[in-house]
Amino acid sequence: MKVLVYDQKGSLFELDNPADKTLMQAIRDAGLNITAQCGGCASCATCHVYVDEAWRGKLKPIAETEDAMLDVAEARQENSRLSCQIELSKELDGLIVTLAPGAEF
Ligand code: FES
Repeated sequence: MKVLVYDQKGSLFELDNPADKTLMQAIRDAGLNITAQCGGCASCATCHVYVDEAWRGKLKPIAETEDAMLDVAEARQENSRLSCQIELSKELDGLIVTLAPGAEF
């Protein structure tokens, strides 16, 4: 599977075979510009991404804790998610996201 990630400057990166990890881990393993300060506990919002419209409905719904954390994230949009709360699987092959402002280190 693959995931397509635009960074905050608009550059596109293709992550190959990132299954069985979270989207945040895949982005971090690829060396992209994301802080993910809390390590994936949904308590920092520095793994904030925007999910491509075509993929929004294919993700699991936002949990209460994720929703509360996104409320304090910089520049929240309707398609905002915490990448540490997205478990990658074959069903998400081709997922497209953009790193949000405020997530960079
Ligand atoms: S890594 Fe901290 S909320 Fe996702």
